[in-house]
Amino acid sequence: MNETETILQIRRGTNPAETQYQDFQLRYEEGISVLDALMRLRREQDSSLAFRYACISANVCKECVILVDGEKEYACTTRLRPGRMVLEPLPGKGLLRDLVTDTVPPREKL
Ligand code: FES
Repeated sequence: MNETETILQIRRGTNPAETQYQDFQLRYEEGISVLDALMRLRREQDSSLAFRYACISANVCKECVILVDGEKEYACTTRLRPGRMVLEPLPGKGLLRDLVTDTVPPREKL
């Protein structure tokens, strides 16, 4: 790996009890977002990769929040870095698939 590559280590699957990661290697481009990289991965490498977004950038919809290297971040505003980045779904929410979690607050009651 060098300064022209990024490895995205992405948690996959639908079972929250089963920790399973998949590495994706892609060309590093300065200035692109993690969301841009995820869209490129889905288009070019794995069409089954699940992640959520609605506004693409600007922190408007807040649907792209995931853990990036253990920190809650907006995938659309977090810049891709060369090297390894670990992407995981938000903790404490129902896991739907890969990086997608339930949007219903965990303690919401009717
Ligand atoms: S895609 Fe809407 S805030 Fe990131």
